[in-house]
Order: sequence, then structure tokens, then C-alpha cells
Amino acid sequence: MMEKVPQKIKSMRRKIEKMEQEAHILIEKAETQEELNNVRVKYLGRNGLLAQLLKLVPQLALKYRPQAGRLANTLKRKLGEALRGKYDLLRKKKEENELRIDITMPGILKELGSIHPVSRTMEEISRIFMNLGFKAVEGPEIETDYYNFTALNIPEGHPSRETFHTFYLDNGRLLRSQTSPVQVRVMEKERPPLRIVAPGRVFRPDATDASHSFMFHQVEGLAVDKDITFADLKGTLSVFVREMFGQEIRMRFRPHFFPFTEPSAEIDISCIICGGSGCRVCSFKGWLEILGAGMVDPNVFGAVKYDPEVWQGFAFGMGVERIAMLKYGITDIRLFFENDVRFLRQF
Ligand code: PHE
Repeated sequence: MMEKVPQKIKSMRRKIEKMEQEAHILIEKAETQEELNNVRVKYLGRNGLLAQLLKLVPQLALKYRPQAGRLANTLKRKLGEALRGKYDLLRKKKEENELRIDITMPGILKELGSIHPVSRTMEEISRIFMNLGFKAVEGPEIETDYYNFTALNIPEGHPSRETFHTFYLDNGRLLRSQTSPVQVRVMEKERPPLRIVAPGRVFRPDATDASHSFMFHQVEGLAVDKDITFADLKGTLSVFVREMFGQEIRMRFRPHFFPFTEPSAEIDISCIICGGSGCRVCSFKGWLEILGAGMVDPNVFGAVKYDPEVWQGFAFGMGVERIAMLKYGITDIRLFFENDVRFLRQF
């Protein structure tokens, strides 16, 4: 005959079964180690549900107590195992996530910059002359009156200083208004023969508009040797003009005045837009002025102690922005200096 089992141990057994089911569901659901630990504390912690259950054991009849203890211990062991298993699983998952490299993900595109159109044009100009045997050099942007003017045959009070309007600094120096002082600096240091180009910034206090900027760039050129003639200047510049603008371009020399060259000329090219028939870009003249040049004045040689009876030379200077504007069809010089990427991206 089956012994009648009292209510209390029955209800304890039911409680333990229910607790086991619930605990397994929670362990299953736990997605992080932290969540899992909360489940452990809830059931197996010092004040957890299992501990509370064990407190009820003394209320049972003596003969049922061992049975109740066994049930509770079994639950403790089972939950412990389930928790450990899940803990290992979560740890593995975490490690896998940390290691995972998804080779199907699109790469991270690095934004590429581009060379500024002024730099690009300046390099292109310099490169053409370097291919003709000229060496590229640089000079300071802050200059003295001597290098920017005096040594270039522009004495104090000379009216031609006015054409090179200048920013003066408090310390008596100035921002160079042309790259021509580099001619003097090179000749002071080196003995002829020499052929140099000097690209760089120059500054003039002009009001800013579509064709003027207080800062712009020039490329200076200088060749000194024995028996250099005006024909060498013409030949050199005609190679430059064709390389820069195309083989069909024509060139003309107009008499001009520069204090540091004699004779001097301004050089025009046939309009690269209309070919010479006249259009808005060339103001219906058919010609575009692109540079100044001439034979080095004997007074400049005198300032650097070259004997003008032995050495001759030619020099030229051109505005880089103007050439870039003509070449790329840019109508406003300010576009070069506003840093608008929509403009710069086109180069
Ligand atoms: N320095 C002159 C200018 O800025 C250009 C030039 C250079 C002319 C060399 C002749 C010789 O206008």
C-alpha cells in the first residue's frame, strides 16, 4: 500500500520543478554574461530562491527532510551546470565577435585631394623651363628694399617704383612685389653661366576684383652666359608658349619698359579662345598679354659684380594665375583663393 505523502513535501516538489523550468528559460534567454549572472544570483545566491526553499525544510516531518534536501541539491547541481554551459557559450560568442573580420564589407574610401590649379600651373611652367636646362630656385617672400628695388635698378624716388605698389612692414622690410629679387640673390651667390626659374608668391596692395588679388604668384626666369642675345630669349619663350598652350599658338613682342632689363618687351600670345579673330576674352584684340621680359640691364650686373662686357643675359617674369585662368577658362581670380572644394575638385 502506498504511503500517503503529506501536502507539504508535495508542494515543495512542485515548487522545485517549477523553479527549475523557470530558471532554464531565463538561462536560455540570457544574452550577456551580466544577464546570466543575474539569473545565478536570483536562484543560487545567498538570499536566492533556493536558499529560501531550504529554510522551509525544517518544517517538514523528519522522515521527509532528507528527500527534500536531495531535491534541493539536485536542483542546485543542475542549475549550476546549465549556468556554466551558457557562460562558456557567451564567452565564445564574445570572442568570436571581437575577432570577426567581414571581408564582404565595402572598404573605407580615403578622400583624395588634388593639386591646386595654381600649384599645378606653376609646376607646369617650371617643368618646361627645367627641360630646357633651367634650375628651379626659391627666394624669401619678405624682402629688403635693396633686393626688391635698388639692386634691380629702381633707385629711391624713381617713378617706376609706383608701378610695383608695395606692402611695407614695420621693421623696414617689405613683402616682395615681384619675383625679380631672386635674380639678384642667385647672381650674388653664384658665378655665371646660370639658368634659373624662381616660382613663388608676390604681394601688391591692389583692390580685389575679378582680375586682381593682393597676393598672387609669378615665375621668374634668368639666363646668364657669354653671347646670349635677344634671339635666345625669343627662342626660349617660343618653346615655352607652344609647350604651354599648343603648337599653333603665335607670339608677339611689344616694346615696353622695365628698369632691370634693356631692351624690354611685353609678350602676347594669339588668343587661345578665338585664335586671333577677336572675342570677349581678348577684348576683341586677338592677343593676350602673358609675360614681361628683356635683356638684363648692365646696372643689375653691376650690382652683383658681373662684368657686363663679358656676360649677357635675359630675364622674364609671368603671372601664374593669369596663365592658369587662360588655360582653364577661369574668369575670376578670386576662385583660386576661396577654398571652395566645388571649384578645386575640378582639377
Ligand atoms: N618683374 C616684372 C613684373 O612683375 C616682370 C619681369 C621680370 C619683367 C623679368 C622683365 C624681366 O612685372
